Amino acid sequence: MEWYHIRGGIPLRGEYSVKGAKNAALPVLAASVCRSGVHEICGCPRIGDVRWMTEILEVLGARCQWEEDRLMVDSRRLDSAQVPRELMAKMRSSVFLMGSLLMRTGEAEIWRPGGCRIGKRPVDIHIDGLRCLGFEVREEEEKIVCRGTCRGGRYVLPYPSVGATENLMMAALSGDSLTVLENCAMEPEIADLQGFLRTLGYSVAGAGGRTILVEGAGRSDCSTGRDTMYFIMEDRIEAATYLMALAGTGGKGVLSGIRSIYLTSVLEVLEQMGCRIRSFEDRIALEAPRRLQSPGCVVTAPYPGFPTDCQPQLLTLAACAEGRTRIREEIFESRFSHKKELAKMGANIETSGKNAIIKGITSLLGAEVCAQDLRGGAALVLAGLMAEGTTAVTGIEHIERGYETLEQGLRELGGNIEKHDERKTKETEKPAAEAGGSSSDRRGVSGVSVFPDVSDHEL
Ligand code: UD1
Repeated sequence: MEWYHIRGGIPLRGEYSVKGAKNAALPVLAASVCRSGVHEICGCPRIGDVRWMTEILEVLGARCQWEEDRLMVDSRRLDSAQVPRELMAKMRSSVFLMGSLLMRTGEAEIWRPGGCRIGKRPVDIHIDGLRCLGFEVREEEEKIVCRGTCRGGRYVLPYPSVGATENLMMAALSGDSLTVLENCAMEPEIADLQGFLRTLGYSVAGAGGRTILVEGAGRSDCSTGRDTMYFIMEDRIEAATYLMALAGTGGKGVLSGIRSIYLTSVLEVLEQMGCRIRSFEDRIALEAPRRLQSPGCVVTAPYPGFPTDCQPQLLTLAACAEGRTRIREEIFESRFSHKKELAKMGANIETSGKNAIIKGITSLLGAEVCAQDLRGGAALVLAGLMAEGTTAVTGIEHIERGYETLEQGLRELGGNIEKHDERKTKETEKPAAEAGGSSSDRRGVSGVSVFPDVSDHEL
């Protein structure tokens, strides 16, 4: 069993370079089977979910090979359009293969991805959209069997689902007429998928906005082959997690390789919490106050609203912010599961349905906590960095599904976090003093002007 050992209370400082986006890499990898070829996916994060996706692609007949941070996907051969149930269960994003397999082969057999720890995650919009575009979709208990070719036309998504938007974009390529998708999700990663589909030679427009136009290309070109090279966009959720780690520890630093435009709603909340932020085209500098203030009420919403994937981390920050914070989770039904773990660290959080009310305390106390899901797990790591004393975070396989070497990145910023592969010590009971002084001595960066050690020139 692997776990993180964190000695908290150290303000993070320094610069971190953001990695490629999980939520862009997964649909792009699925899309790599749309057209036969050797596809060089650059800046692909080496995370658990990407490993599962490559495993699925290999089972389908493609070949995947890492060359540093480039993932070469050779999709010239494709033997099957059936995603094995056990692999489907590993990762919900395997659902993207429905669209890409329909494009390439005219059929796709997948398994219902089912619910997960953050709530029910149905695929009814994916199925409804496919049917509306002319595909035959049969649901056999847990299995979903799709066949056919897109007949084009117009489909209005009843809700702007990210995955359904992406799946329908890929499936719509299979016909020979125009498809208009309306009320689409506008997440930047959807525009990134559009970029990759264009690199494959397809005509897709409008992604990043509410309406997406897909020109059917037919299947005849799918197997003629086209080698491509594509750079995955940066991970805005990883960037937000690091910014929140800086904010929560009273630190200051710079994130590079991140377009601040993608984080507008998160930066607004961090500013309301008292952080001083300077945004540049591809960098963000943040200096945290001695103690964060409550941002009042924050409601998650589809992009460009406050991302649900940053809500658990915000809950952690709010646990120590001065005042009372209300967080309303509008996207997923049970995304407060790390609340219980935060309570072990002293947090005062009440939840009821979609709402969490957090009464900020002055400091969390280190404890042994267990990650239940990806972002909730990252939020516990943040809590450990903020807490007095030491914290052990178990269940880190959830965190590693979506963060590449989180512990190394945080260490680069001065965080005291180590990954262990067995539980050797139980230091969590050690009093804070043993762990290096009281947290109030170490919190905040007193008497400094904004970013004194990061010149404007560097920024
Ligand atoms: C994607 C992201 C995930 C993020 C989420 C919301 C990827 C790989 N994952 O997930 O990190 O948290 O967007 O921003 O990009 N829904 C239905 N029926 C459907 C589809 C969705 O009811 O057919 C519901 C879901 O249960 C959920 C909401 O719509 O409550 C949002 O889901 P969706 O936008 O589809 O998220 P994902 O694509 O699964």
